[in-house]
Parts: sequence; structure tokens; C-alpha cells
Amino acid sequence: MKFRRKGEVALFFVLLISPIFLASADNSPNLYSELLSVKPRHSNLLKDALKSENSNDEPSELWSPLPDQGWRPCGINARAEKPANSTGYLQVFLDGGLNQQRMGICDAVAVAKILNATLVIPLLEVNPVWKDSSSFEEIFDVDHFIEALKDDISIVKELPYEYAWSTREFYSTAIRETRVKTAPVHASVHWFSDNVLPVLESYGIAAISPFSHRLAFDNMPEDLQRLRCKVNFQALTFVPHIRALGDALVSRLRYPSLRTEPEHRILQQFSYRKLSREPQKFVVLHLRFDKDMAAHSACDFGGGKAEKLALARYRQEMWQGRVLNSQFTDEELRSQGRCPMTPEEVGLLLAALGFDNSTRLYLASHKVYGGKARLDTLRRLFPLMEDKKSLASLEERARIKGKASLLAALDYYISMHSDIFISASPGNMHNALVGHRTYESLKTIRPNMGSLGQLFLDKNMSWVDFRQAVAEGHHYRHGQLRLRKPKQSIYTYPAPDCMCRA
Ligand SMILES: *[C@@H]1O[C@H](CO)[C@@H](O)[C@H](O)[C@H]1NC(C)=O
Ligand SMILES: *[C@@H]1O[C@H](CO)[C@@H](O)[C@H](O)[C@H]1NC(C)=O
Ligand SMILES: *[C@@H]1O[C@H](CO)[C@@H](O)[C@H](O)[C@H]1NC(C)=O
Ligand SMILES: *[C@@H]1O[C@H](CO)[C@@H](O)[C@H](O)[C@H]1NC(C)=O
Repeated sequence: MKFRRKGEVALFFVLLISPIFLASADNSPNLYSELLSVKPRHSNLLKDALKSENSNDEPSELWSPLPDQGWRPCGINARAEKPANSTGYLQVFLDGGLNQQRMGICDAVAVAKILNATLVIPLLEVNPVWKDSSSFEEIFDVDHFIEALKDDISIVKELPYEYAWSTREFYSTAIRETRVKTAPVHASVHWFSDNVLPVLESYGIAAISPFSHRLAFDNMPEDLQRLRCKVNFQALTFVPHIRALGDALVSRLRYPSLRTEPEHRILQQFSYRKLSREPQKFVVLHLRFDKDMAAHSACDFGGGKAEKLALARYRQEMWQGRVLNSQFTDEELRSQGRCPMTPEEVGLLLAALGFDNSTRLYLASHKVYGGKARLDTLRRLFPLMEDKKSLASLEERARIKGKASLLAALDYYISMHSDIFISASPGNMHNALVGHRTYESLKTIRPNMGSLGQLFLDKNMSWVDFRQAVAEGHHYRHGQLRLRKPKQSIYTYPAPDCMCRA
């Protein structure tokens, strides 16, 4: 397997390996109590960043929308008609987190199309790290999904009675002839025709599992690529209660003064757009900084000896210490851009890019390893920082509480409605949003991990030099469209497969 991005290698490794070794995840120590303090690692830069806050002559183009780049979503017309007769039922079981499953759903539709099969609504496996058992229907608007694709493929919510035996449990207990488990990573159209069609023809049903990352991105017919994009960017919408909560939170970010007024709850029922007040702009910062990721990256995050030991122990428990990165020193990893940024480092990056303490920041994040202390520095730089907890009431959060996929769905929705999106670590969420925002021509800052890794290693760098270097390193990283290269994902780089020159 060849992957262009280092992040993808790491991520893929976690997803392939963790389900096998994760049995002990629950017994792992909770680090919040182990961490006494998280000291700023870059105190010199931080001091100057805080000092220069209001003297920032905020570059005017920072908040301006992305200039027109001459690319639009291509017209998506189902060219090949939906076949009159289905070859059978296609099932897929999808692992990974929400955004990996999202890509799996898009690929499943494409494979159903290749085979003229009827797709059964994909089953979402419970991820061993996030442990959310939410089903497709609990996350995505299933009726919209079926309706949006009705001219492309047939989809059923459940198998008919005569195939009801074909369950996830049925396949986990023995070898079954209707299960296809040999699909190679990035398989071709022909692979599916040659290997899955015969199963459909013999049994009327085929269950492909594992299925993540199984359909290639290269050498695909154009209409198939466009169908995948249609699924990703049009057919997949979140359930109404997630969209409604997302809209409410976006309104609170855009009209913060209304939140403190007593009639706030009543006002929520009216459209905020009718109000004459000027909407505020906001940035979404995606911060995946949980223990699993921190341990897997094998970088030093400044939590001292206790943290180092705890992460080493976690690596041992989860992966028997077999973590690719742990053979490198922190310095080596950083200079190669292989360390996710800490909240402090993201704060310095944002400040260097020209954001200041009047910037409204929404933190799209699940658990932050190290807890509040880890976020202190970021909050000092950006006091107007909000998240789901600060914006939504307890009642509003009741339906999504503890459900990682729904929490991620809410963050995804809010991210799609922000003026600017930036992610602190490469990964599925970052890639999914980079792709979706490209498709909608929205501004996205892509951190230059290699250049930042080097800058943060230089402990003597002045703030002025740091700002200068950051500006140079991010000149073409504000959402300028990048064409997909071979092997890259159409879900991250939708042009030129799904976007056409205007
Ligand atoms: C699917 O249907 C189309 C048109 O109905 C047909 O041309 C194609 O050969 C079929 N493919 C398979 C694998 O059945
Ligand atoms: C579909 O199946 C029916 C009955 O099995 C058959 O009569 C018909 O010709 C088929 N249509 C196509 C397009 O294959
Ligand atoms: C932003 O920083 C300036 C200067 O340090 C300070 O005067 C101002 O009160 C700060 N604003 C907020 C919202 O913290
Ligand atoms: C950083 O600055 C200190 C004091 O000015 C100096 O002694 C040290 O050599 C410098 N280190 C680097 C890596 O430039």
C-alpha cells in the first residue's frame, strides 16, 4: 500500500490494528488525574503573541470569502439508468469513526451500481475507541438518502424475510459462503464484478466485510466517481434533530449578544436572519487530541514524565508497543511534521495567521487528553472560544450525550457552516471537511505540518520571525483548490472528478 500523506498511514494503522487489541481499553488509566500541569512549551512565543494581540493589523483578506477559482460541482446526472432487475442484495459492515464510515457508504453505493445490486442500508460497526452504537438511521436522514439516489440504485432499509438470516452475527460465528472478506484495498471495478457478482448470482445476496477503503479512486468511470460525490455531498444529510441543533448553535455563534438576553429562548424560534444585527464571523477549530491519538503519534506533548509514562503504558496495552512512530525521537517526528499540534501550538498558529482575541472560535472536539489544563493557553489567546457544552443546554445535549458519532455529526454540521475551518491534525475528519468545503467553495486553512514542526523546534525564534515564517508557509493554504493526484481520495480532493471548470 502506498499512501501519499503520512497521516493516512498512521490512521490506517490504527483502524486496522486497534479492533484486535482494544479489549483492555476500559482499564486504561484516566490521565486527567495523572497530569498535574501542562506547562506551555513555547513560552517565549506565547508571551509575545499575547502582547501583540490588539496590535494585530488583521490582514483584511483573512475573513474574506474564497475568491472564485472557476470550479463548480459538475452536473450530476445518472447516465447509466437504474437497471430494471436487481442482481441481488448487497450488504456492507463499516468500521472506523463517522467520517470513515461516511466514505464507506459512498463506496457501497458505487459498488451496488457496478453490480446492479440492491443496497441494504449499511451497518455501522461499533468502534472500539469511541464505542458508539448509533445506527445509520440514527445519524443520517435515511429517507432523504433513499430518495436522493432513487434514480441511481435501489436501496432497502431491511432485508426481506427470506434473507433475514444474513446478519452481522451470522457472519461473526463461522465461515459463510455469502461473505466476501477478501476484497483488497482499493480494488478495481473488475474485482467486484469478478468476485462479488458470482456470489450474488448464486445466493441472491453478498455481504462484503471488511469494506473500508476497498474501492479504488483511480481508473474509475466518470459517472461512478460522480455518483460517489453525489452520495457524499448530496444524499448524506444528518437526521433533523442534529441539523436543528446545529442551526441553533450556529445562530448563537453568529448572534452572541442575543444569548444573554432573557428572551433568548423565545427568539430562538424565529429566524435570526430577520434580525437587523450584523452576524459575527467564526472559525471552527477541529482538535482531535484524545489519548489514543496522543499515544499513537508517539510525540512528546509537554505533560512531563507522568504523561510520557502514561502514554508509553497505553501503547503497550493497546498495541503491545508496536507503534511505528515510537522508533523515532520527538525531534525527528516533529521535523517531519508527524506530530499533531497541541492546543497551545494551534493557538500560536492562529495568532500568527492574524486571528486575535476578538476572534470567535468554535472548538470541534470530543475529549481533550489532559483536560482543561491542556486548553488553558489556547483560551488565553482566544477568550471567545465556545464548544457544544458552552453553547447548548443540558436538555439540548441529552440526545447526543456520550454518542461519539452524533457529537461528531454535530461538529461536522457546524464546521460546514463556519467562515473558516482549520484542523490541528490530519485525519478522516480533516480530510472529509477539506473535501466537502472545497466542493462548496468554502475557506479552509490547511496547516503546513512540516514547516510548523520545524518552527516549533526552534526555541529561540522571535514572534516577528515566527509570524513571517507562518505567513510564508501558508500562502497557498487558505482553501485554494488542489486537483486530485493519483491515489488520492475524491472525498478529499473532489476536483477534477466531481468539479468542472465553470
Ligand atoms: C447492469 O445493468 C446494465 C444496464 O441495465 C447492464 O448494461 C450491465 O451489464 C449490468 N451489469 C451487471 C453486472 O449486471
Ligand atoms: C427482468 O426479469 C423479468 C422476470 O425475471 C424478465 O422477464 C425481464 O426480461 C427482465 N428484464 C431485464 C431488463 O432483464
Ligand atoms: C484583547 O486584548 C486587548 C489587549 O491585550 C485587551 O485590551 C482586550 O480587553 C482583550 N479583549 C478580550 C475580549 O479579551
Ligand atoms: C538560543 O539563545 C541562547 C541565548 O541567547 C543561546 O545561548 C543558544 O545557543 C540559542 N540556541 C539556539 C538553538 O540557537
